[in-house]
Amino acid sequence: MAIQVGDSLPEGTLMIMGEKGPQPISIAELTDNKKTVIFALPGAFTPGCSMAHLPSFIINADKIKEKGVDNIVCLAVNDAFVMSAWGKTQNAEEIIMAADGSATYTKALGLELDLTAHGMGERSQRYAMLVENGEVKYLGIDTTEIKASAAEAILEVL
Ligand code: BEZ
Repeated sequence: MAIQVGDSLPEGTLMIMGEKGPQPISIAELTDNKKTVIFALPGAFTPGCSMAHLPSFIINADKIKEKGVDNIVCLAVNDAFVMSAWGKTQNAEEIIMAADGSATYTKALGLELDLTAHGMGERSQRYAMLVENGEVKYLGIDTTEIKASAAEAILEVL
């Protein structure tokens, strides 16, 4: 079953690009005693994610942080090299580009998406969540239009 509003995030580890290469970052590190926005999408460099979803958070990152959010995390079932390269091409300096390469954390959330038919294997659903000290306060999942998972939807609940 998918995670819901009111649930605590499961423990887990994602990968981010450090100075010496990919390095782990725990969900606890990202969320304990913090307000964190995590948004996830089916794939780095895919058209909808590159032209709409990630840009909505880049454009609104300052506004989101002004409303007290400590971390904005972009999560995808891609590796840390790809996530880092994608963040650079998009000038996503204020976003933590986090990789869940084996979909382990995505499956722990129950938010996986089977894109095998599109040659993409197991990926993440498109969603955004607001997390306060580890507890999910808002979860917006999109299947077609990017609306409930866009930065504008997060701004409305902050
Ligand atoms: C996209 O453009 O966001 C997309 C493309 C293929 C599969 C899933 C998402």
